[in-house]
Amino acid sequence: MIKNDVEKVLISEEELKEIIKRLGKQITEDYKDKNLLVVSVLKGSVMVMADLLREIKLPLRIDFMAVSSYGSGTTTSGSVKIIKDLDINLAGYDLLIVEDILDSGVTLSNLKEILLTRGPARVKICTLLDKPERRKADIVADYVGARIPDAFVVGYGLDYDEKYRNLPYVGILSPSVYGE
Ligand code: IMP
Ligand code: MG
Repeated sequence: MIKNDVEKVLISEEELKEIIKRLGKQITEDYKDKNLLVVSVLKGSVMVMADLLREIKLPLRIDFMAVSSYGSGTTTSGSVKIIKDLDINLAGYDLLIVEDILDSGVTLSNLKEILLTRGPARVKICTLLDKPERRKADIVADYVGARIPDAFVVGYGLDYDEKYRNLPYVGILSPSVYGE
């Protein structure tokens, strides 16, 4: 049973709905009259992307990219590799990168740097979760769903070894699953 692998529910389905609504409202206010392109970083942001888009009441475009971060382990690998690039030319767009979690910040700070070289008007970051205690790179998110303590979480898009993404809540993974 998947549920036995989760030690504790950290953010419930209902709380996630409220968080996404709040983020959508903020983004809707901030991006009026902007040329908005929402970029989802696969695969972890798939849930937040799908739900957040419906709470942004503005004309917008979307695109997807995939970068490497963690393999099957729970510690950061250090640098970022583009696995799937964007289709849209970024010139002139107001980019909003949607991420599942900001941990060491290495992934997003590298990604932001890469995207900034492509001539967008602006690049901002929206992350569902933020683990500020673990930050290594000098980066802050413009929109944060929830700040969480230093624990490995799964669900609502977030995985461990590609599993648990389909959980409708965010939960702390039991350390017994990764052998601690
Ligand atoms: P960073 O480069 O350390 O900020 O790592 C960001 C990426 O690591 C996220 O997009 C996630 O894919 C993964 N990650 C970091 N912390 C967790 C976690 O607690 N659960 C699942 N994935 C995580
Ligand atoms: Mg991941």
